[in-house]
Amino acid sequence: MLNFDYYNPTRIVFGKDSIAHIDDLVPADARVLVLYGGGSAERNGTLAEVAAALGARTVQRFGGIEPNPSYETLMAAVEQVRRDKLDFLLAVGGGSVIDGTKFVAAAVNYPNEPWEILETRAKHLTQALPMGCVLTLPATGSEMNCFSVVTRKSLQAKLGFGSPLVFPRFSVLDPVKTFTLPPRQIANGAVDAFVHVMEQYMTYPVNAPVQDRYAESLLQTLVEVGPQALATPEDYDVRANLMWAATQALNGLIGAGVPQDWATHMIGHEITALYGLDHAQTLAVVLPSLLHLRREAKRAKLLQFAARVWDIHAGSEDERIDAAIARTRAFFESLGVDTRLSAYGIGADAVDRIVAQLEAHGMTALGEHRDIDLAASRRILEACF
Ligand code: NZQ
Ligand code: ZN
Repeated sequence: MLNFDYYNPTRIVFGKDSIAHIDDLVPADARVLVLYGGGSAERNGTLAEVAAALGARTVQRFGGIEPNPSYETLMAAVEQVRRDKLDFLLAVGGGSVIDGTKFVAAAVNYPNEPWEILETRAKHLTQALPMGCVLTLPATGSEMNCFSVVTRKSLQAKLGFGSPLVFPRFSVLDPVKTFTLPPRQIANGAVDAFVHVMEQYMTYPVNAPVQDRYAESLLQTLVEVGPQALATPEDYDVRANLMWAATQALNGLIGAGVPQDWATHMIGHEITALYGLDHAQTLAVVLPSLLHLRREAKRAKLLQFAARVWDIHAGSEDERIDAAIARTRAFFESLGVDTRLSAYGIGADAVDRIVAQLEAHGMTALGEHRDIDLAASRRILEACF
């Protein structure tokens, strides 16, 4: 096992009717900004419940944070916080609202132009406003991690940063709040969480059976509950298990002490920035292709994955690996998430553009061995059609 330093201070309050607990979690004298997305939280009553829980505190709202939150929109929230001297941020929504809120928390007192936080991966960040979350979409794990991904539309750049300063103080996870999600977002969430596990598991063995078996249990749970969540949208237990699996997939625990890949995500972010695909759609496209091309470097773990996650035991090594990749692709497709760029109307000319963006963003040495150079990314992309 590799050395590690694991820290996660986020309190999780989980279950039915848990939004009321916000009253105990937000300081009584806080001046709160509630940040949300395009209106789902308003329509399904979540914002009203949050307002009731906040009671007599000073509360303002900032709506309109879009999927793949934009720097341009978020800077308006930064202005509001600065102008009205607000001091606590409460994100109500999915990964985009939470990521956006983390950026606002970091940007408000940042001495330089805040885009620098993304460009420098928060290297110079020394403070951030406290924040909490009410999660409405199980997918990203942002509710229990210190990462944020922000898009600057004018540059077609989607960049991420991470800092312990932006761990949420708490996150409220009420599975009932996910009942109103459209099937596309449930499917996206299951795919995103699955790929988060794979980024931390599908590398090479370092004799870390706790992390491996924990990762495998998350993968198997997602394969089990993903389709159930689509088939029976108001089954509380199914939604609860999906929600907790997605949180655990990226709260740092399974990634502690093991090598990590993240090439699928880095290539995927460029596809979203250029072509607007949903985050999970890009992952469903890139992962099968990447696994296929990286089979030598990942051989031992691919065989373990085949046996333990998909129960594949027959055939030669390469046949078992091919079968495991095919099962993974079929799982994504069964949820309704297409796994070929052509299915999203993207032609082969995209490869040059995506590779150029990877180069512009310094994504020239990806993967657990840092050996996915631009030529390797190109081969992965060419196999995505
Ligand atoms: O905007 P509203 O109206 O709220 O609608 C949203 C949005 O259109 C809707 N939605 C959310 N909760 C709902 C609901 N609709 C009905 N009922 C509910 N309960 O869902 C749509 C998508 O929301 P979004 O937040 O964009 O989705 P997701 O949670 O998948 O977040 C994706 C973003 O997270 C980033 C992605 O890159 C992307 O920008 N990621 C963040 C990570 C992190 N912080 O660790 C890691 C991930 O790999 C990922 O990169
Ligand atoms: Zn992701």
